[in-house]
Amino acid sequence: MRRYKPPRGNVKDTYRFQHKHILGIEQLSVSDIFHILDTALSFKEISNRSLKKVPTLKGKTIINFFFEPSTRTRLSFEIAAKRMSADTFNIAASTSSAQKGETLIDTARNLEAMNPDIIILRHGSSGAPGLLARHIKNGAIINAGDGSHEHPSQALLDMMTVREHKGKIDGLKVAIVGDIAHSRVAHSNILGFTRLGAEVRVAGPATFMPPHLESLGACVCGSIQEALVDADVVMALRIQKERQDDPLIPSLREYAHFYGINRSLLQHARPDALIMHPGPINRGVEMSPDVADGAGSVILEQVTNGVAVRMALLYLIMGTQGAGA
Ligand code: CP
Repeated sequence: MRRYKPPRGNVKDTYRFQHKHILGIEQLSVSDIFHILDTALSFKEISNRSLKKVPTLKGKTIINFFFEPSTRTRLSFEIAAKRMSADTFNIAASTSSAQKGETLIDTARNLEAMNPDIIILRHGSSGAPGLLARHIKNGAIINAGDGSHEHPSQALLDMMTVREHKGKIDGLKVAIVGDIAHSRVAHSNILGFTRLGAEVRVAGPATFMPPHLESLGACVCGSIQEALVDADVVMALRIQKERQDDPLIPSLREYAHFYGINRSLLQHARPDALIMHPGPINRGVEMSPDVADGAGSVILEQVTNGVAVRMALLYLIMGTQGAGA
């Protein structure tokens, strides 16, 4: 079998990817991120072939373990694994023995007893993938979104999409707008884009702005207009109702009026600004339909790149099994 050799565009020759688990962007260096993006770019072409399959992960077992609903992340991890010939299995909390009171760690230990190579976990509790990584000895954990903590594969696919369009990330102005407080996508993207040299601005209703944003490297803006001035990238976030005990905004109508991305607001951004949303979109609330579907929108390209990024993560993680941390 011919061994795949990723390109080394932004990465030094001495570099080696050494992570056993992918728990967050926090753990990834600049070289790690560029290496994942370069690897994803080289895998992207496989999805355009008429026979969309390579033998790279033949014989490997990958479990998708999702405690929260998902369309894009769950399916793209499964497609990524299948395109690399791995055997994939899906388990949802609603049909698992978690319903009978089994703890997350006990369930993970039982999954581990069946000898999977990678467990991909989405969970409503921040830190759940890290907890599993500490409790299982064999196999790797990939975080597919944990509470309001991190969603690393989403941020990587977002960075890949921006880099493809703009040719770089360093020096770009990236505006992230909306429910920053409850968004794992915002957290991972602030970490990732600032690490690669972008200026990340955040804006939203005061009740959606957590106190620690500057310490992550983000510029906190007093208004959405200020965040959008000359922005190269405008990313709207979904309102995470499932993480709010009580409503934190008066109404969706008012939110759409003041914070929904529309053509009028976009006049503050650069004319060639990329329009992004991690999905699912609440059309007419976070973004007007003409913006979501119009010029500059790369929302569906984000989804396409999700498969390539997840192929890269599975490939790189399998290469470090038994080594690294
Ligand atoms: N962006 C994202 O995580 O979407 P899903 O919830 O559909 O996976």
